[in-house]
Amino acid sequence: MHSYGNRMGNLLTVAALSLGAICAMASLCDHLHVPSPSAHAQVLKISRFRKHRSGDDEVGLELNVSANLQSTFTWNTKQVFLFVAAEYETPKNSINQISLWDRIIPAKEYADFSIHIKNKYRFTDQGNNLQGKEFNLTLCWQVMPKSGRMFADKIVMTRYRLPDKYQ
Ligand SMILES: *[C@@H]1O[C@H](CO)[C@@H](O)[C@H](O)[C@H]1NC(C)=O
Ligand SMILES: *[C@@H]1O[C@H](CO)[C@@H](O)[C@H](O)[C@H]1NC(C)=O
Repeated sequence: MHSYGNRMGNLLTVAALSLGAICAMASLCDHLHVPSPSAHAQVLKISRFRKHRSGDDEVGLELNVSANLQSTFTWNTKQVFLFVAAEYETPKNSINQISLWDRIIPAKEYADFSIHIKNKYRFTDQGNNLQGKEFNLTLCWQVMPKSGRMFADKIVMTRYRLPDKYQ
């Protein structure tokens, strides 16, 4: 003999269970797509290293950037923003990050490329902090969705070093 209260309890349990299952499926679908991007960046040449008229150190670089970020594109991807930055330490700041180059990838068909570039933004440091300075090259991509949360990832190429003397 089931009491009314008991039946109500069972119905609620079933409802709660199926709601849970729907939530689990939705988030599963979110995670089913596992991107497998590949990317690489490399300093080919320090083309300029001098003290600027302002007194700041200035670096000119040539880079090789290759990436295949096609797998980050889904129906929900608006665009991917890619940038390359130099990271180094100075006594004043433990991490200095200088953006050297960036690109907006508007669609999957543009997401597989290999290019030889010069720094698009100035690589400078106040004073003369950069002689013999070790730096890392970071290649970072931000996947911007049409809706939902942004996703970002990066790779770091370590142990580059600037010359001891100006050129
Ligand atoms: C740039 O990178 C691509 C892909 O890794 C490589 O095939 C090419 O030889 C590189 N170019 C230079 C100048 O190193
Ligand atoms: C460069 O990368 C190495 C290895 O990940 C890390 O130990 C070091 O702190 C990095 N240097 C800077 C300036 O971020």
